[in-house]
Amino acid sequence: DPIQPPDLSKCHTATVTKDTTVACCPPLVRIIDFKFPSPREPMRTRRAAHLVDEDYIKKYEKAISLMKALPDDDPRSFKNQANVHCAYCNGAYDQVGITPTLDLQIHFSWLFFPFHRYYLYFHERILGSLIDDPTFALPFWNWDSPDGMQIPPIFANTDSELFVALRNQKHIPGGAYPLLNMHWSDPIDDKALAPEDQWDINRRVMHTQMVSGAKKRTLFFGMPLKAGETPLKAGDAAANTGQGSIERSPHMNIHIWTGDPKQAHTEDMGNFYSAGRDPIFYCHHANVDRMWDLWKTLGPRRTDFTDPDWLEAAFVFYDEDKNLVRCKVKDCLDSRKLNYDYQKVPLPWLDTKR
Ligand code: C2O
Repeated sequence: DPIQPPDLSKCHTATVTKDTTVACCPPLVRIIDFKFPSPREPMRTRRAAHLVDEDYIKKYEKAISLMKALPDDDPRSFKNQANVHCAYCNGAYDQVGITPTLDLQIHFSWLFFPFHRYYLYFHERILGSLIDDPTFALPFWNWDSPDGMQIPPIFANTDSELFVALRNQKHIPGGAYPLLNMHWSDPIDDKALAPEDQWDINRRVMHTQMVSGAKKRTLFFGMPLKAGETPLKAGDAAANTGQGSIERSPHMNIHIWTGDPKQAHTEDMGNFYSAGRDPIFYCHHANVDRMWDLWKTLGPRRTDFTDPDWLEAAFVFYDEDKNLVRCKVKDCLDSRKLNYDYQKVPLPWLDTKR
């Protein structure tokens, strides 16, 4: 059977590590069913974060500051947005209708792409509604290109609403090792590589994860997780056996690479419970989401699962009107039906040759 959305009234303490817990249950509000956005709405075009202009940056900063200013009991608040991730990912929810209890976990399986797609979709719409701009779109961290191999400058300006202090200081622009390393064996094993050598490594990782090593659905999306099955979780030795290629690397690497190793749990980006507190999270995940759209253009067998246990799996998210919306995987397969799209930029990893 498909995974059911959590029952927010039964949300409990989340686990950060074996002996650290945290309270991050988001508020329980009215539940409605997902409806597609009206086709009369303008298309939202997500642009590469290193290519956006001043006007856009101002809008985005304004939206984030308004979101941060919302009170804690408002489900749209920045704090609650981050808590959504904590609750789903650090064991604050149990799978509905299953005894004995089992955690709900949306990483390390085929739920990874659809969960994060909806999460960003609503985050983006809330931001747009706060600044009354129906064209507002999140930026994407174009880490699959040589120019995007570092923290995008818009997140590095210390005066900006997009800045957080809890990042690896060696990895910020101007730091000792500002270039992103995607190699899965050593995400934070810093080496002072020349940009072209680092890009050579990253390009190969991208090619493997998108092309040569992602020829089957399970390789790209990750392994099935159905209701009543015990999910893998962070820290499990076997966790990466459930992950799809992109989820494993570069997605995980970038989380750990960005977070502050001086914090107990590599906050913010290096732990699920705190990752959503860094605005860069949503930009990182926009590029993860872009990879799903791209993957489906790379060959005839690269299509979504048809298993009803995936298509009917469901989550709940807050919308711009403070409702809790019940969303099924089958309704998010086509991002254009969700009224957003990605700026076209080169795919320099597509070819095996340089
Ligand atoms: Cu839900 Cu990048 O993690």
